[in-house]
Amino acid sequence: MDGNGRWATKRSLPRNTGHREGINAMTSIAIACKGLGIPYVSFYAFSTENKNRPKQEVDGLIGLMRDKFDELRDDFNDNDIKLCVMGDISYFGKSLEKKINDAVEKTKNNKSIVVNVALNYGGRDELSRAATLSAQRNAPISEFLYTSGQPDPDILIRTGGEKRLSNFMLYQLAYTELFFVDTLWPDFTEKELNAIVQEYYYRDRRFGK
Ligand code: IPE
Ligand code: MG
Repeated sequence: MDGNGRWATKRSLPRNTGHREGINAMTSIAIACKGLGIPYVSFYAFSTENKNRPKQEVDGLIGLMRDKFDELRDDFNDNDIKLCVMGDISYFGKSLEKKINDAVEKTKNNKSIVVNVALNYGGRDELSRAATLSAQRNAPISEFLYTSGQPDPDILIRTGGEKRLSNFMLYQLAYTELFFVDTLWPDFTEKELNAIVQEYYYRDRRFGK
């Protein structure tokens, strides 16, 4: 979900206002995915590297999660969306961690779609953690990823014009179809999502075969 900061700056608004809009867009797109019959969707909200942004922005983002998480939980419940979290949320402190876990707990029986939200998530971090557990327990790495039990993504969409993965789902994206769009995340709409899904059907997927 890239481009929140630029979306706000273009409007002479504080970057955090862009992040707030970004959360609203995330809920709308999650609902749109459900409408398309997509069973799983993952959103990259806060990376392990985002912690290195200026303190004011990091504090703003964490404050926003604190303000918005209860609303997110209710929106997800109203739409039968099951929330899963990818990442080490202990970084956010006891009270926010509890709020996040509460949303996971309260939405766990929802059935229409699973929405993974990556919070303090890094693909390398996930892999090194999974590799240790895999060696200790003598079981495949994939069982210890945050997405354990879920299929690999078919489609990756990065908004905001950059063409890189930025440490997102490095294991899971091995054969994923990649889409890069210039649209800034808060402006990303269901219409654009539909166009990407249509284009996806014309991609020839061979999985190396
Ligand atoms: C993405 O928007 C949201 C987060 C990484 C938290 P950015 O904050 O990267 O927005 P730009 O790239 O500066 O526009
Ligand atoms: Mg960015």
